[in-house]
Amino acid sequence: MERTFEQELRKLSMEVKDNGIIGVVGLGLMGASIVSSLLINGQKVIALAPIRCDLDMTAKKRIKKSLQECNAQGITDEHPEDLFKNMTFTSSYADLKGCWIVMECVSENLKIKKDVYQKIEKVVADNVIITSNTSAIPISILQEHLGIPERFFGMHWAEPAYTTRFLEIICGDKSPAKIGKKLHKIAIAWGKEPTLVRKDIQGFITNRLMYSLYREAFYLVENGYATIEDVDRACKNDAGHWLTFCGPFRYMDLTGLQAYHAVMKNLFSDLSTGTQVPKLIDDIAKKGGNGVFNGKGFYDYTTEEAKAWEEAFEKFAFDINRLSTKYMAETAAISSYNMSEKE
Ligand SMILES: NC(=O)c1ccc[n+]([C@@H]2O[C@H](COP(=O)([O-])OP(=O)(O)OC[C@H]3O[C@@H](n4cnc5c(N)ncnc54)[C@H](O)[C@@H]3O)[C@@H](O)[C@H]2O)c1
Repeated sequence: MERTFEQELRKLSMEVKDNGIIGVVGLGLMGASIVSSLLINGQKVIALAPIRCDLDMTAKKRIKKSLQECNAQGITDEHPEDLFKNMTFTSSYADLKGCWIVMECVSENLKIKKDVYQKIEKVVADNVIITSNTSAIPISILQEHLGIPERFFGMHWAEPAYTTRFLEIICGDKSPAKIGKKLHKIAIAWGKEPTLVRKDIQGFITNRLMYSLYREAFYLVENGYATIEDVDRACKNDAGHWLTFCGPFRYMDLTGLQAYHAVMKNLFSDLSTGTQVPKLIDDIAKKGGNGVFNGKGFYDYTTEEAKAWEEAFEKFAFDINRLSTKYMAETAAISSYNMSEKE
């Protein structure tokens, strides 16, 4: 008898839970967030702090805080202290020995990542999977720095990893597609609605989509068609209204594909194809501006304003997680699961 998706998912969750321990190397913003996401989904984690500043309690505090928040927001019923006990905090690579997968989450710097892979490979068995959370370094390039390149995949999370349902699994030139598909399925059991990038490409899926949006946003502002505020408002109230519900292809189906076909004939040739970093961001970045983190960005922020935006963003992340789960989690998980089954 054919298993239903629910049965498959339950079986997979059990398998994943029994599958042993997950290593996370690098406990900055994203590493801590990924550890929290794995803990609330019942995983046992070795959290490895590769540098001194990760050991000063910041990572531990961050993880504790996100577990408490996930519990308060109803994302998990488990007590934060109990979940915390499933994590072993260490600075010794030897502790990764028993992991079935190790997720690298260190700074976006090839030299640092390469050094970390050497240290991981020295201690783990040959069949252990190693992944990277890189935002933009091609997986096929990172893969070349491993003794066993076939064990390597991109696993690209979004911040905050414990509220977003996003996870990209990326196959490099030497990553076996079969294992990529298995990881994709496992990620469903980690509470994600994952995507599989079958062939390595710079920026993967999501950064390619988002950066084409950013490029056009700069084009409109720099050429005087609209203000920063108006571009932000338009994006938030048009795309923002449906993007969590569905992606662009489903949206075109839902709202009449013919109209899009007609518009594309004229509009595509008029869109920005700029290849330089826009002057608007270049000027701010070169003066050290870093948005809410130092009050200088496309907008200026007082300390209170920056704090208020950050808090509202965090609250919104929980709300949007609830909303997207309520409407689409099941059907999207089924279609993505069926799709990977069919291949
Ligand atoms: N921040 C995001 O929203 C985001 C989203 C997706 C992917 N990423 C990617 O995740 C990775 C980590 O980003 P982050 O935002 O957590 O960075 P971060 O600056 O918060 O943390 C970097 C971490 O790297 C490690 N590290 C730094 N120097 C090291 C060294 N010399 N040797 C060994 N380890 C060292 C430490 O654990 C440090 O905490 C990067 O590849 C980044 O591109 C970040």
